[in-house]
Amino acid sequence: MKAPTARQVRIAAVFAGLPMFLAAAVVMTDPIAMPIMAHGPIQASHESIQCEACHQPSPGTARQQVQGKLHFLLGLRETPVDFGFSAVTSKACLACHERPNERHPIYRFQEPRFQASLALVEATSCLGCHSEHTNHRASIDLLFCQACHEDLKLKSDPLDVNHETLIANLEWQTCLGCHDFHGNHKHQAPTLLEAAIPAEAVLLYLQAGPSPYPLPKLFKGREGGE
Ligand code: HEC
Ligand code: HEC
Ligand code: HEC
Ligand code: HEC
Ligand code: HEC
Repeated sequence: MKAPTARQVRIAAVFAGLPMFLAAAVVMTDPIAMPIMAHGPIQASHESIQCEACHQPSPGTARQQVQGKLHFLLGLRETPVDFGFSAVTSKACLACHERPNERHPIYRFQEPRFQASLALVEATSCLGCHSEHTNHRASIDLLFCQACHEDLKLKSDPLDVNHETLIANLEWQTCLGCHDFHGNHKHQAPTLLEAAIPAEAVLLYLQAGPSPYPLPKLFKGREGGE
């Protein structure tokens, strides 16, 4: 059975009365009941990770949350409260994936000069590009480098087809074939275009396929989680 959405719960409450609403609220607030609400697969490399490593319990006791929901339902509150678990944030990801060598750290893009780029790609949040419980490891296309690197020129470009030419020809799908986004692979970018990883292989990885980037990684995610 699919988990009820907050809206469905409200509709149910209206039709079946408050007792049923409260029962639904208890189910949705109880961590043990959480698996029945999961609505999609966890990506392969996250299979051993606990739900709570990403989903932090909401502030307030279960009773306060139910009360908050009720007040929202009755129009006494402006915003709904979270049911048991807050929205996932980058902080949860960084607890296991913070790296000293990060090429594109999310905090860097808070600077005002990136405002126009952020309208194209939400680079200030892990969840701007990644997701979970879907069939996508990352929900971006291959072309998003364009949001920031349109003016790129190398002083002495080592490529057989240089960066300026690639960009003039809008060959943005080639970038991830030579550079991983996070710079977390011990991998020297090739200088020949034909040595680039084919765009199809990169795209498969962003969906749910195997990584096309040569191992080893410089840093691996922390195992476990509390
Ligand atoms: C690697 C991190 C991660 C792990 C582990 C994880 N989730 Fe999630 N989950 C997410 C993200 C990201 C979302 C997207 C919605 C959000 O931002 O809250 C989400 C959404 C959900 C939602 C929908 C909530 C909503 O407001 O729409 C449910 C329910 C859920 N997860 C349950 C689970 C359960 C149960 C487990 C353990 C089996 C689990 N999750 C493990 C990251 C994770
Ligand atoms: C409890 C620790 C933990 C948390 C929290 C966590 N991860 Fe991971 N993640 C791992 C481990 C361990 C791996 C597998 C080793 C590796 O590839 O680094 C991994 C792998 C990945 C991969 C690579 C998948 C692959 O197979 O190549 C991505 C992408 C990823 N995590 C993104 C995220 C994002 C985004 C979040 C936050 C929503 C997150 N992780 C939260 C531990 C964690
Ligand atoms: C602008 C888009 C974007 C943002 C924002 C982003 N990622 Fe990624 N991420 C990617 C792409 C593209 C890949 C595949 C290429 C690669 O491996 O670098 C990837 C790969 C990964 C991987 C697997 C490869 C590796 O480096 O181990 C992990 C883990 C990961 N991301 C975690 C994160 C975390 C954690 C955050 C937030 C701090 C984040 N990402 C923010 C686009 C993004
Ligand atoms: C939100 C903006 C943004 C996006 C999107 C973005 N970059 Fe960058 N990138 C930067 C900034 C800023 C730097 C640092 C440049 C500097 O310090 O001069 C950088 C640096 C780099 C570097 C050099 C890193 C080093 O340490 O030498 C590479 C390679 C790179 N980006 C590749 C890419 C690729 C490939 C993509 C698309 C997959 C991409 N970038 C997407 C903003 C971005
Ligand atoms: C055929 C492989 C290849 C392709 C395709 C490629 N690059 Fe590069 N790129 C390199 C190499 C090699 C360097 C030299 C520095 C290095 O070894 O990382 C480089 C350097 C860079 C730098 C660092 C510039 C500096 O001043 O240090 C950035 C940023 C960059 N590339 C972005 C991109 C973007 C964006 C694209 C897509 C338009 C792209 N690259 C396509 C191989 C490639």
